Amino acid sequence: GAPVQADLSKLVTGQLLTVEWRGKPVWVVKRTEETLKHLDEDTERLSDPASDVESQQPEYAKNTPRSIKPETLVVIGICTHLGCSPSYRPDIAPADLGADWDGGFFCPCHGSKFDLSGRVYKGVPAPTNLEVPPYRYVDDNTIIVG
Ligand code: FES
Repeated sequence: GAPVQADLSKLVTGQLLTVEWRGKPVWVVKRTEETLKHLDEDTERLSDPASDVESQQPEYAKNTPRSIKPETLVVIGICTHLGCSPSYRPDIAPADLGADWDGGFFCPCHGSKFDLSGRVYKGVPAPTNLEVPPYRYVDDNTIIVG
């Protein structure tokens, strides 16, 4: 599939933008300062907090925010369990997800949980973090995926 361009100029903090690449949804999320702080906390609840599974991201996304620019997450929006589409749940401690939920992605099919870096929680069916596709910035507000 051909690379696709995403225009981030109108993306506001907290918002999620979807672009399609190779028939898959790629999410671009502009994270808040608050979110970025939470990414370093409670990493014991995560299966692969340091993104050690090589297949799930390019080398330049092997860091806590799993991204080139810390505030902007680029991730494939497909659950690594059986391919459902997780829901974007940036809310903190909502009633249905519990007090330890700091925002992330929740898969309604079998309950897998991912944080706002797409890192999978322990004890859920999804085996790995969400996949970060290859991408690069062509200017401050434009990325090319693929
Ligand atoms: Fe997401 Fe099973 S497909 S938890």
